[in-house]
Amino acid sequence: MSGIRPTGFLHLGNYFGALQNYVRMQDEYDCYFMVADWHSLTTHPDTKELRSSVLRVLAENIAAGIDPERACLYLQSQIPEIAELYLLLNMLAYKGELEKTNTFKEKVRLQPENVNAGLLTYPVLQAADIMIHRAKYVPVGKDQEQHLEMARNFAQRFNHRYGELFPEPAAFNFGKELVKVPSLDGAGKMSKSENQYATLYLADNDDMIRKKVMKAKTDTGPIKENSEIPETVHNLFLIMSLVTGKDVVMHYEEEHKKGAIRYADMKKQLAEDMVKFITPIREKAESIYHDEKYLKQVVEKGREKAGKSAGETIRLAREIIRLKYF
Ligand code: TRP
Repeated sequence: MSGIRPTGFLHLGNYFGALQNYVRMQDEYDCYFMVADWHSLTTHPDTKELRSSVLRVLAENIAAGIDPERACLYLQSQIPEIAELYLLLNMLAYKGELEKTNTFKEKVRLQPENVNAGLLTYPVLQAADIMIHRAKYVPVGKDQEQHLEMARNFAQRFNHRYGELFPEPAAFNFGKELVKVPSLDGAGKMSKSENQYATLYLADNDDMIRKKVMKAKTDTGPIKENSEIPETVHNLFLIMSLVTGKDVVMHYEEEHKKGAIRYADMKKQLAEDMVKFITPIREKAESIYHDEKYLKQVVEKGREKAGKSAGETIRLAREIIRLKYF
C-alpha cells in the first residue's frame, strides 16, 4: 500500500525514486495505491484546483506504468472506513509524540497561520490508510520513515489493547538503495519545491526539457587528463545513466578521462535521450487526463476493491473492540 499526494506535478525524482518501485511491485503483490486527497486538505485548504490535481496525478501515475487492471488505484475520500479507523487510532496516539513529528514541526514553520488538528494527526490518518488493508509493505522514500514507525506503534498498541489484528507495516524497496535523482543545478535532489529549472517534470515539453538540460551546471575549470570529476558532472552522468545506454555513458566517461570531453555535446545527447524518455509518458498522461470517462471507470473500480478490503477490516476492528452490541 502506498499513498500519493495530489499536489504538484510528478518529476523524474518521483519516477525513479518511488513510481518505478510501485510498477515492479504490482507484478508480485496485491497492491493498493491511493490518492491522498484528505491529506492534501491539511496544507491546501483552497480546493479550487483539487479536482484537476487529482485527475492529473491519476493520469500521470497510469501513464508511468501503474496498471489499474492489476493494482487497485483509488481515492482516499471515497473510502469512509479510513476515517472511521482514523478515529479509532486517534485514541492510541499521544499528543506529545504527534507534536514531536518532524513533518509536523516543519509544517508549523511553513504555515504558522494554519496549524490545524489535521496537520497534527497527519501520521494517524496515514497509519489508517495503511492499516485499513492490513498492509505489510509500504513502498516509500526515506522522508516517510518516521511516519511508518508511528504506524507500527499504533498497530502494536491496537493489537496489545484489543487483540491481534494488524501486521506491523514495513518500508519496502527492491533490495538496492532508493535512487535519488540529483537536481540539474548541482544542489540537492530534484524536488517540486526547489529551483523549477533544475527539476525535470514528466509534463515538460520537448523544448523545456532541452532548455533545462542545456542549462545544467557542469564544470568551469580547464579539463585535463585524469582530472577528478566534479560533483555537478558526476550528477549529470548519474542522470544520464537513467535514460541513456551504458555504452554511450561510458563513451563520455572515457572522454572525460582523456580530458577531451565537450560538455555541450554530452548535454545535447542527454537532452535528446531525456526527450525520448519523457515524451511518450507525457503524451500518454495528457490523453488519459482528457479521457474523463476512462478515469471515472478506473476510480470506480478502485473504490469497489478498496471498499471491500476496508469494510472487512472495519468489521473486524469493531468486533475486537467490542463495538458490536447485538
Ligand atoms: N505522506 C505521504 C507523502 O507525503 C503520502 C501518503 C499518504 C502515504 N498516505 C500514505 C504514503 C500511506 C504511504 C502510505 O508522500
